[in-house]
Amino acid sequence: RKRVVVFISGGGSNMLALAAACEAQDFPAEVVAVISDKASAGGLAKAAERGIATFAFERRDYASKAEHEAAILATLETLSPDIVCLAGYMRLLSGEFIQRLEGRIINIHPSLLPLFPGLHTHQRAIDAGMRIAGCTVHFVTEGMDEGPILAQAAVPVVTGDTADSLAARVLTVEHKLYPLALKLMAEGKVRMEDGHAVREQQGTAHPDDK
Ligand code: GAR
Repeated sequence: RKRVVVFISGGGSNMLALAAACEAQDFPAEVVAVISDKASAGGLAKAAERGIATFAFERRDYASKAEHEAAILATLETLSPDIVCLAGYMRLLSGEFIQRLEGRIINIHPSLLPLFPGLHTHQRAIDAGMRIAGCTVHFVTEGMDEGPILAQAAVPVVTGDTADSLAARVLTVEHKLYPLALKLMAEGKVRMEDGHAVREQQGTAHPDDK
């Protein structure tokens, strides 16, 4: 089973969805630790309740971003993860940090990327008059919310939606999509190559196949 470390900053509902999926006997990955940049993140206590190791690294305890990341990397090395999942980790990681993990670090973002990267994504989707919204799991590269796409899921935007109601609808599909994407990755069915996501051929033949 692949070793997974999950990074969070908040409630950790996606982390819990990953941990729950990993509890199935035949799931190809296990969550070995949860790391947060906030000691107060609700998800840390929930992970600890499940017997998962937790670590908090408050940015204010370090003189610089580089020192903060160095401390996280040092702990990460002791955990030897095969895969790092960002799940509501609200801090931009440096290029050096990401390069150390390239191809092994993935993120979930609550929009249909490349639309609406960054913050306030739901309000921006509503303001743009979108009739569908969704979420994206992507490989993490240096640009924010920019890496190659592993998996996506869509939901409708309904009349009267607020950012909160849309966020809640998207979150329910995030909880299905992220475990699915992790499974694909842990099984080696999708990987990053030359800045692109490469997927294994599907088992079903297409009528146009030669
Ligand atoms: C999720 O909706 C996740 O996609 C989003 O934060 C929420 C975290 O919820 N991530 C981002 O916006 C990253 N840019 P959770 O802590 O309950 O998983």
